[in-house]
Amino acid sequence: MRNETLAIHGGYDGDPATKAVAVPIYQTAAYEFDSAEHGAALFNLEAAGFRYSRINNPTVDVLDKRVAALERGVGALCVASGQAALHYALLNLTEAGANFVTVPQLYGTTHTLFSHLFPSFGIEVRFAKSDSPADVEPLIDGNTRAVFCESVGNPAGNICDIAALAEVAHAGGVPLVVDNTVATPILLQPIEHGADVVVHSLTKFMGGHGTTLGGAIVDGGKFPWKRHAERFRQFCEPDTSYHGLVYADHFGPSAYIARCRSVYQRTTGAVLSPLNAFLLLQGVETVALRVERHVENARRVAEFLRDDKRVAWVNYVGFPDSPYHVLAEKYLGGKACSLLTFGTPGGFEGGKRFYNALKLVKRLVNLGDAKSLACHPASTTHRQMPPDVQLKAGVRPEMIRLSIGIEHIDDIIADLDQALEVSVSRTAKA
Ligand SMILES: Cc1ncc(COP(=O)(O)O)c(C=O)c1O
Repeated sequence: MRNETLAIHGGYDGDPATKAVAVPIYQTAAYEFDSAEHGAALFNLEAAGFRYSRINNPTVDVLDKRVAALERGVGALCVASGQAALHYALLNLTEAGANFVTVPQLYGTTHTLFSHLFPSFGIEVRFAKSDSPADVEPLIDGNTRAVFCESVGNPAGNICDIAALAEVAHAGGVPLVVDNTVATPILLQPIEHGADVVVHSLTKFMGGHGTTLGGAIVDGGKFPWKRHAERFRQFCEPDTSYHGLVYADHFGPSAYIARCRSVYQRTTGAVLSPLNAFLLLQGVETVALRVERHVENARRVAEFLRDDKRVAWVNYVGFPDSPYHVLAEKYLGGKACSLLTFGTPGGFEGGKRFYNALKLVKRLVNLGDAKSLACHPASTTHRQMPPDVQLKAGVRPEMIRLSIGIEHIDDIIADLDQALEVSVSRTAKA
């Protein structure tokens, strides 16, 4: 089935107990065993079913299956937030003493996770100079466990050449992990281009209404763990924390996601609640329609800003002169995302003046809501970073990031227009 259909029906054939058409909210911590033997079979991962909601839950299970279907994966694990998903996705591949390689254009908290938290666990994170596969390749060595990128960088707006990064990663014997939050599977399915693991913040376009945090890890099911058994012993040798289970033998192509659930979610518990899974499912049902409108509104806003003399620069991959235009055509089918950045004159203060003048467009740190949103990264998401690191992450001092919503386009443009007027007159006086 196509994604418009999977977004509505994926993972759910009706509730066997009640025939409920909407996915029921199974608000339960635990599940009764028929017998000691049944409980043992569940614990041995031999019988399908549920035992405790820190491991799995029927409502979350529908979302797991739906997101896996949308991303063309063999399985998914939905967790409490996008950050929890990133954390688990990479811990499942690395360990103290090992490293992974990342492109530099990252969401601010992911940058913090990589540059501070993982190194404090003894995991080295190697930042490439750019998102070019030629800059990533020399950083991969015998101790590398993954290559990481955001398919569309937040807030930089760069587009990674996923097929080329996958080639470089695979030649080095490691999987490619892609955060596909900004693109969504409606615009891009990284697994189809060679990625091995896809991560999402479901909080953004997938949920779509700014109500609910959630994250997902999707297993592409193609990485040959056994061929690289020396490097990925965790999938190929008996797990002493789980009575000697060998994930690659027991789960075959789903070894990665099965271990993610039974090692990381089971022991550290960043669980998605059934109610939040239900709310995210409501959002996912309309993701294809919403993304279409987001994309069209963003194109109109980008054109308005480009043609306006009060604007210093616009970074929008839908313009033919964008350095990422060719990749946008290849990976997003010419439908540039609804995230764009621009700058007004006046540097950091000029950016703040515009930001403070907005009325309809919300000032906050989020994206992918039905509402139009604006962020001034230099004063919020990226403020912990020194200016040179901000620049490497694609953040200029005056930069405003817009996540264009699905309101009427004339109302969005009217608000940007009045905010430009206010900021330009205040900049002239300053
Ligand atoms: C690209 C990207 N990945 C991950 C995250 C983290 O997601 P969450 O806020 O759901 O933890 C964000 C949040 O903005 C993001 O933009």
